[in-house]
Amino acid sequence: MMKGGHAKKLLFTNILCILLLHWLDLSFVISTKVPAIIVFGDSSVDAGNNNFISTVARSNFQPYGRDFMGGKPTGRFSNGRIATDFISEAFGIKPYIPAYLDPSYNISQFSTGVSFASAATGYDNATSDVLSVIPLWKQLEYYKEYQKKLGTYLGEKKAKDTITKSLHIISLGTNDFLENYYAIPGRASQYTPSQYQNFLAGIAENFIHRLYDLGAKKISLGGLPPMGCLPLERTTNFAGGNDCVSNYNNIALEFNDKLNKLTTKLKKDIPGVKLVFSNPYDILFRVVKKPGQFGFQVTSMACCATGMFEMGYACSRASFFSCVDASRYVFWDSFHPTEKTNGIVANYLVKSALAQFLH
Ligand SMILES: *[C@@H]1O[C@H](CO)[C@@H](O)[C@H](O)[C@H]1NC(C)=O
Ligand SMILES: *[C@@H]1O[C@H](CO)[C@@H](O)[C@H](O)[C@H]1NC(C)=O
Repeated sequence: MMKGGHAKKLLFTNILCILLLHWLDLSFVISTKVPAIIVFGDSSVDAGNNNFISTVARSNFQPYGRDFMGGKPTGRFSNGRIATDFISEAFGIKPYIPAYLDPSYNISQFSTGVSFASAATGYDNATSDVLSVIPLWKQLEYYKEYQKKLGTYLGEKKAKDTITKSLHIISLGTNDFLENYYAIPGRASQYTPSQYQNFLAGIAENFIHRLYDLGAKKISLGGLPPMGCLPLERTTNFAGGNDCVSNYNNIALEFNDKLNKLTTKLKKDIPGVKLVFSNPYDILFRVVKKPGQFGFQVTSMACCATGMFEMGYACSRASFFSCVDASRYVFWDSFHPTEKTNGIVANYLVKSALAQFLH
């Protein structure tokens, strides 16, 4: 009896030790490496900020979010989670990143991750004006306000340390071309496509400097997807037999090349910055061109409604045409990927550009 009890006790102590070591190990990797993920951008990373401003660029109704936790339409432009949610999870932080303007969250939750992103916005102020959404400069103002709240909540020293170690993700640019430059008069009469790319890259450069000035050290600058392959663009590509619009894809490739060069330049200009270029183009292009390899069946049309034009209010529960199983589709609405695609892209980025922040 005594012996058995002793052995049990030893075993128990050993298990406790192992658990404790694991816990120490994990907490070292997780909390000292990246305590929070802080997000700026457009609908690719908006977790619902647009629900709280006056705009039509919304998705806080069914069937959006039907595969999210609890089937909740949060304002994410997908059937489930978006790429930054998966990235947060991969970093061992939490399964989704809340929207800063959502009053159901407070600084305690935001201290481990927050999104300032706004669907339909762009680098260019003229892009955010189109649908009256949150411009990039305003996202930075919210970030300053957040830092003040974080200082009060954690104490100045801990808050500063958190900001230094947090990963800052920037993801936008598609709308500058598809919602603005190629959609409405104005910028196209002022700039050639190449000049416009330079104009946007200049704003990105300035934004990264401002972030750094505010204490950010770990920054991921996101590239553009193959935007000519979005279902909306394919639907309207009558001459091209509904294939991807190569002009838009080429614009994305050129702009990504400029952002990549900008990243190299900024790493020289700003001593101490850990800046990476996170490029989703190649992985998304592969998914679109070889959907079967990733378990998809449909790539040229989206799941929601007819899959040809609808997004936002046009993708509503009132549509009888929506697909039953979104995981068979690369795209959820005519402009945004399904949760499954978001997971594939996030996983790819975590293993490539973002890997250096994990270890
Ligand atoms: C934040 O909200 C949680 C639960 O909703 C609550 O327990 C916590 O006290 C709040 N924290 C602050 C700092 O307001
Ligand atoms: C965008 O608007 C803000 C606020 O008015 C302004 O400070 C900023 O300079 C503008 N950006 C550009 C590139 O014009």
